Amino acid sequence: MSIHKLTVCAALLLSPALGAATDGAKLFQEKTCWSCHGKDAQTPVMPTYPKLAGQNADYALQQMKDIKSGARNNGQTVAMKTVMHLVNDDEMKAIAQWLSSLSANARITPAPTSAPAQTETQATANPHEPAVPPKGWNQNLGNEESEQYQAMHLPTDKKKGVEVYEVCSACHLLEGWGMEDGTFPQLAGQHRSVLVKQLADIRALNRDNPTMYPFAKKESIGGVQEMADVTDYIAKLPMNPANGVGSGDNLALGEQLYKDNCVKCHGDNGQGDPVKYYPRIHAQHYQYMLRQFEWIRDGKRRNANPDMVKQIKGFSNDDMKAVIDYTSRLKPPQELLAPSITWKNPDYD
Ligand code: HEC
Ligand code: HEC
Ligand code: HEC
Repeated sequence: MSIHKLTVCAALLLSPALGAATDGAKLFQEKTCWSCHGKDAQTPVMPTYPKLAGQNADYALQQMKDIKSGARNNGQTVAMKTVMHLVNDDEMKAIAQWLSSLSANARITPAPTSAPAQTETQATANPHEPAVPPKGWNQNLGNEESEQYQAMHLPTDKKKGVEVYEVCSACHLLEGWGMEDGTFPQLAGQHRSVLVKQLADIRALNRDNPTMYPFAKKESIGGVQEMADVTDYIAKLPMNPANGVGSGDNLALGEQLYKDNCVKCHGDNGQGDPVKYYPRIHAQHYQYMLRQFEWIRDGKRRNANPDMVKQIKGFSNDDMKAVIDYTSRLKPPQELLAPSITWKNPDYD
């Protein structure tokens, strides 16, 4: 079902008198809440995530505020905290009201809580366990047994790619352009090998991404074939022609740093190298790249190429901003870009 249809469905559940609640339904969909808590707010993507339908409005609002501020913070909270800056107090209130207006049992098909398959999932797949040591930067490159290798070599099906990608679009958006504020990266146009590597690393817990982890799992998107289909689809999407950039204050320094430290891997135009799994970094959002760069420098992105870590070890925060600002302004060739910022993905009409 397309996102547009979802809005309609959600709206149909409501009485027209409930103004705030209508907003709440719309916000619940637009602000990615449904991706984890389910379209009906009671079929969460992980068995350990809460059902929200029918919850007391004041309680729900307080929980959202506490999760946003960090006052509520257990092993699971981090998955949700990542997206909470997308909603302000009024929006949280509207969502809380809408949640409380839903009936907790009205739409329940057999309760998912006792399904044995899910219990198993819960036991084996906790994204919030202590960091697993990285298994080498890319030990699977060239290993024919690995899912990375297989995903790169299977024939692909666009229709299936479109189906799988719909789930991803809750966060990365239908165009695959991510968000300028850096919450979600642009994926459109990225080298397929890079998408496969990152997805495989995220689901093997080699790269921490608690927000996305449940969606990367085999149980959600499927196995190697689905990985092949969805990455092929994403890699062919046209890129955002107006990605987020930095302040523009220090571009001369940025250019020099780029030439001295980045060209050998990411290329003179930020195009990366699909054969070596080096990502495209042109047209990526400044805010997202800044976070990744800092995490790579400081050892937080555990699956990063150790040679890049070495190369940027001495970068100050100002150096980092300058070089990423410069990078964010590099433009891919015209044929990889969408014709305009208002382009809409026709596969989800
Ligand atoms: C990436 C997954 C994810 C997303 C996206 C997400 N949540 Fe959550 N949410 C969770 C998890 C996990 C918990 C339980 C956190 C904990 O145990 O502290 C939770 C808890 C809650 C609670 C408290 C429930 C209770 O009974 O205590 C509310 C309310 C809530 N979420 C609303 C929202 C809203 C509104 C949005 C969108 C703005 C949202 N969530 C987005 C994963 C998510
Ligand atoms: C609930 C939100 C959410 C959903 C759904 C989601 N992602 Fe993500 N994804 C993220 C976040 C957040 C990041 C960036 C994490 C970080 O900052 O390290 C990310 C990063 C990625 C990256 C790494 C990009 C890079 O430049 O290194 C890939 C690849 C990716 N996602 C693919 C997918 C695919 C494919 C799907 C669907 C099967 C999907 N995502 C679904 C939230 C999501
Ligand atoms: C030795 C090769 C190498 C060098 C030098 C290098 N990088 Fe990287 N870079 C990589 C690889 C490989 C990755 C992907 C890491 C992974 O697998 O998670 C990456 C990831 C990144 C990312 C995150 C991209 C994403 O989509 O998440 C950014 C941003 C980045 N590099 C910027 C730079 C900049 C700017 C420089 C120069 C100051 C630089 N890199 C130097 C190899 C390199």
